Parts: sequence; structure tokens; C-alpha cells
Amino acid sequence: MISFSKEDIFFVTGASSGIGRASALLLNELGATVIITSRRQEKLHEVKNDAVHSENMIVESRDLSVDIDNHAEWVIGLSKKYGKLKGLVLSAGVSFVKPLSLVDYSSLKTAYDILFDAQVMLVKGFANRKANAGNSSVVIISSNTAAYGVKGTLEYGSAKAALITAGKVMANELYYRSIRVNTISPGAILTPMVEESIKRGETNASVAEYAGKPEYIANMVSFLLSEKACWITGQDIVVDGGASLPHLHERI
Ligand SMILES: NC(=O)c1ccc[n+]([C@@H]2O[C@H](COP(=O)([O-])OP(=O)(O)OC[C@H]3O[C@@H](n4cnc5c(N)ncnc54)[C@H](OP(=O)(O)O)[C@@H]3O)[C@@H](O)[C@H]2O)c1
Repeated sequence: MISFSKEDIFFVTGASSGIGRASALLLNELGATVIITSRRQEKLHEVKNDAVHSENMIVESRDLSVDIDNHAEWVIGLSKKYGKLKGLVLSAGVSFVKPLSLVDYSSLKTAYDILFDAQVMLVKGFANRKANAGNSSVVIISSNTAAYGVKGTLEYGSAKAALITAGKVMANELYYRSIRVNTISPGAILTPMVEESIKRGETNASVAEYAGKPEYIANMVSFLLSEKACWITGQDIVVDGGASLPHLHERI
């Protein structure tokens, strides 16, 4: 059984909703102190209220798409305020669906700012000795979309693929400082991101019938942050309910 102590401080982005929310609540339930962030402070307070150990849930809101150059210093500042960090979960993300004909430099930059650049700068801050508790772990939420080249996912899918490679590079560079770095590539998970995408007609409504639950990803997040995963680093773990198996391929 996985358990943490309140001295284990985990920092979770995208914690107001979906996978980030489920991960923050599970880590808190398993005993950790969790710093939760996203733009919507009121939603973060709802998550805190829903937590089993609400007193160990800390709210810090921030828009990760702006002032990206200062994300690393911000993470270091949080560790000064609350204590050195044992784990980082990067779940903030936005869906971008657009064919090549509608992609321009500005839209590419907007997508990469939040999906890639912001994530790397957060890991940079976490890896700093002033911020890191040692023997620690980073989990970055990528996507199984990274592997398939689905139409309309040029910005989203390629940024997620870049995250998988960045995760391996960072795992290599941070290995001798006992910081493990892994990515998770979820298949379709029923969260507000997917529900909104269905409403906009960008995602087939049938996805809702077979999509997984945010908790399925939270389980893998908690495992990768725990000592049980002490020998796992530089990996991309696909959690997709078998969607990548040949006979289920239409479910990607
Ligand atoms: N759902 C799926 O099927 C699926 C599949 C594969 C991968 N993923 C990935 O999993 C991650 C979580 O997705 P989800 O499905 O849980 O989506 P979600 O329910 O829409 O949650 C997205 C989270 O990101 C935060 N966020 C978005 N823009 C932000 C910004 N500029 N600054 C700070 N926070 C921001 C949102 O909070 P605020 O709005 O409060 O800022 C929210 O907490 C994403 O990286 C997504 O790409 C999802």
C-alpha cells in the first residue's frame, strides 16, 4: 500500500479539474501535503474543501501561460514558504485542435507556451537544490495523442511528444541528483477538457462511452511519486485502457 507523510510535500498543477484534481485529492488522502495550483482560485478552494486532510492542502493560484521565465523562481519561492518539495505533478493543459491550414506562428507559440515551455520551467525550478527535498520524483502528464499523428493535433500532439522527449532528457540529467522524471500518456479520460471538446464538435461524442476516469491516472501518479517506483525513471507510461491495442485502435 502506498502512503506518504505530511512532510512529503507535492506540488500539483492543473489541480482545479480533471486529472490534476484527482491526483491532488489522492496524494492528500495518502497522507501528503499538497500544494495545488491553477488559475481559478475558487475551484482550488473547492478541491481543498473536498480533501480528506484539508489542513494539508495549500492553494496557490497562477496563470502558467504568462511570465513563464519566472516559473522556476516561483517554485523555489514556494519551497521557501512551505518546505522543500518531494514531488511535482504537471497536469495543467489546454486542448488545441486545428488543421495545419489554420496553424500560424502565433497559435503555435500559444500552444507551446502552456503545453511545453511552462512545464520545462517548472521542472527547472523543482530541480534546484533550494527547492528539492532529495530522492524526489517528477510526473508530467503527456498524452497518447503524442504517438498517433491524429488529424488536427499538430500543436497539441507535437507539444505532448516533445514533453516525452524532454522528460527522458531531464531524467538523464537529474539522475545523479536522485530526481526521477517520468511522463504518463493517458488515453481518453472523461474530464471537463474532453466534455468541452465534445460540445465544440472537435471530439466524437462516442468517446464519452469508453473514456477512463481521472482516478485511473491519479493511481499511476501516486505510484510514480512513491518509493515503490524507486527504480523507474525516464519512462513514458501509457495508461489508455488498451486503446493502443490493434483491435481497439479506432478508440484513439
Ligand atoms: N482528458 C483526457 O482525455 C486527456 C488525455 C491525455 C492527456 N491529457 C492531459 O492531461 C492533463 C489534464 O487534463 P484534464 O483532462 O484533466 O483537463 P481539465 O479537466 O480541463 O484540467 C486542466 C487543468 O489545467 C489548468 N490550466 C489550464 N490552463 C492553465 C493556465 N494557463 N495556467 C494554469 N493552469 C491552467 C486548469 O485550471 P484553471 O482553468 O483553473 O486554470 C485545469 O486545472 C492535460 O495536460 C491534458 O493535456 C488529458
